[in-house]
Amino acid sequence: MSDRARAFPDGFLWGAATASYQIEGAVREGGRGESIWDRFTHTPGKIANGDTGDVAVDHYHRWPEDIRIMQELALGAYRFSIAWPRIQPTGRGAANAEGLDFYDRLVDGLLAADIEPWVTLYHWDLPQALQDAGGGWAHRSTADAFAEYTDIVTRRLGDRVKHWITINEPWVVSYLGSLIGIHAPGNHSLPETLAVAHHLLLAHGHAADVVRTNVRDSQVGITLNLSHVYAEGDGELDQLAGSVADGALNRWFLDPVFGREYPADLVERFGDAMPEIRPGDFDVIARETDFLGINSYNPMHVRHDPNGLLGVFGEAPVGGDRTAMGWIVEPDGLRDLLVRVHDDYAPKAIVITENGSAWNDPEPVEGRVPDPARIDYLHGHLLAVNEAIAKGAPVQGYFAWSLLDNFEWGEGYAKRFGIVYVNYDTQERTIKDSGRFYREVIEANGENL
Ligand code: FCB
Repeated sequence: MSDRARAFPDGFLWGAATASYQIEGAVREGGRGESIWDRFTHTPGKIANGDTGDVAVDHYHRWPEDIRIMQELALGAYRFSIAWPRIQPTGRGAANAEGLDFYDRLVDGLLAADIEPWVTLYHWDLPQALQDAGGGWAHRSTADAFAEYTDIVTRRLGDRVKHWITINEPWVVSYLGSLIGIHAPGNHSLPETLAVAHHLLLAHGHAADVVRTNVRDSQVGITLNLSHVYAEGDGELDQLAGSVADGALNRWFLDPVFGREYPADLVERFGDAMPEIRPGDFDVIARETDFLGINSYNPMHVRHDPNGLLGVFGEAPVGGDRTAMGWIVEPDGLRDLLVRVHDDYAPKAIVITENGSAWNDPEPVEGRVPDPARIDYLHGHLLAVNEAIAKGAPVQGYFAWSLLDNFEWGEGYAKRFGIVYVNYDTQERTIKDSGRFYREVIEANGENL
């Protein structure tokens, strides 16, 4: 551990994260409109066990209790997302007062508890009406609609919310939603995927402008899901697989956000599948931001595979522990990723907006849930963050995914990521041992790691 920094920087932000569709439930309350995830989860065969977010963990009604839990955990910040269809049920037009009121109360409750609200504007619950009308993110007009929605939300909350994340994980939204088809809206088209990605990036730039205009002393950024890519094998094709994987997942989003437009090697590869790019688009996408949000769970080990993604790469078989998601546990991957992003792109600040792990947790017994594997994961990854800081990466905060067990998209409720256990029959919450451990880390600002 020679690379370990003395301690985490003063003022390092310790938080936990959630997302609206994964926790709120109450999908037909408060004037909320339908989202593409409501439609997708109610389409037979799409989600494990036929699960939906209809009830989720009932956070819409239990948020005061959830804030008390955050206080028990000593969180300094809470990252949550706003459900666009609660604000504009059809994605356009006048604001729905009840929707705004809900988030208004939540923000006041957090501030009263001395917890800093970090708001994500888009964590995947697009109003279904926008999907029906123009093909959702496949259509450029959705980026304009997003700017209007951002205007409504920031006018209402901007006096109290200072930290804003525009878009969560454009790679996941575009590739899983429009190419692989395991997320809403469930399509299989490379041109659509690239159009969706482009419009999400445009939406980010427009929203960043709106946040800056409407919110005094704002801090704004985008959250990208990034994984360090290791090519397994020295052969030319395996090396190519590595650079295409890194290109599609990492560089495709980092390059334009940091003013370099799309990477030429991938543009050439995509050929006719490329979306329409209008003059000025890259200026919008490269708007100056205050931090880069990074979600990262695992690195990728890839090798050449003509049947793999983009006809080039697939997962290489490597050993090591895996979480209940089948994701490799490899903290050094997070350190290497952070150092690489710092070296290649030099963001002013980095915030880890998600990191965590799913395990088959036991049910609570006498108020305890022992989850040693999640503690190990957290411990290892926090040390990796610390090492990256020692190597110069400007990491200013860490949000554990997730505050609560919740609806894990295509996996439904089968996969638990929470540092707090939720009994889905009773909605009872129990802080897991990892939550207790995290509290100690927070109180010691990481010096006990
Ligand atoms: C990320 C998502 C988040 C959660 C984790 C496990 O891709 O942003 O909502 O599902 O994965």
